[in-house]
Amino acid sequence: MHKAKRGIFVSFEGTEGSGKSTLIRHLSQSLEKMGRRVLATREPGGNPVSERIRDTVLNFSMNAWTELLLYEAARSENLAQLVVPALSEGKIVLCDRFTDSSLAYQGYARGLPWRKVQALNDLATQGLQPELTVFLDIDPETGLRRAQDGNRFEAEGVEFQVKVRRGFLRARRENPKKWLTVKIQGQTPEQLTEIVLQELVRRFRIGKKTK
Ligand code: TYD
Repeated sequence: MHKAKRGIFVSFEGTEGSGKSTLIRHLSQSLEKMGRRVLATREPGGNPVSERIRDTVLNFSMNAWTELLLYEAARSENLAQLVVPALSEGKIVLCDRFTDSSLAYQGYARGLPWRKVQALNDLATQGLQPELTVFLDIDPETGLRRAQDGNRFEAEGVEFQVKVRRGFLRARRENPKKWLTVKIQGQTPEQLTEIVLQELVRRFRIGKKTK
């Protein structure tokens, strides 16, 4: 399904409280002001089916495989309903979390075999990968203090977040060119937006209209 792709797919990753959703909001507005069409979406969620899965996976404890499979199901549905159509219309898709979250949370932090998580990621995405993954690298303790939603992953405490961060670093080592790492050190959302915009311009020349 990825053959029809014309847009640009960007995922955002980080431990809890890293500020992904605020950044995505600001970045969407800036890109739209530049005349680009944007789809901002999130995982798990983004469409009614995946939002129902989100409700389940964030509110009940379950074994790690069930957890992984639910994230993959939510992913598959959101790709089919929103992401793939948007990319084929030439939109810039900004996705709050994607396959690297499954590697970091279910693979590294929960301890499921890394290669199996990769295989399930491939199955759910049919090989569709973001062109760019923006990693907001926050100190896990600071992040947990900032995190607002009180979901069950936050409740597992700082050690879990430290593992999740290591999981992201492992994913980055396997595919470094895809990643833009931004160390979070109190920048404003505007400053973070500028950093990511510059990278988009550099990599994809998005400042210049290609349509
Ligand atoms: P959310 O409230 O969206 O967290 P955040 O604002 O930090 O993104 O909840 C999503 C939670 O699901 C988050 O704790 C990370 C977790 N998650 C996984 O464990 N595996 C995954 O594949 C994805 C997409 C998310």
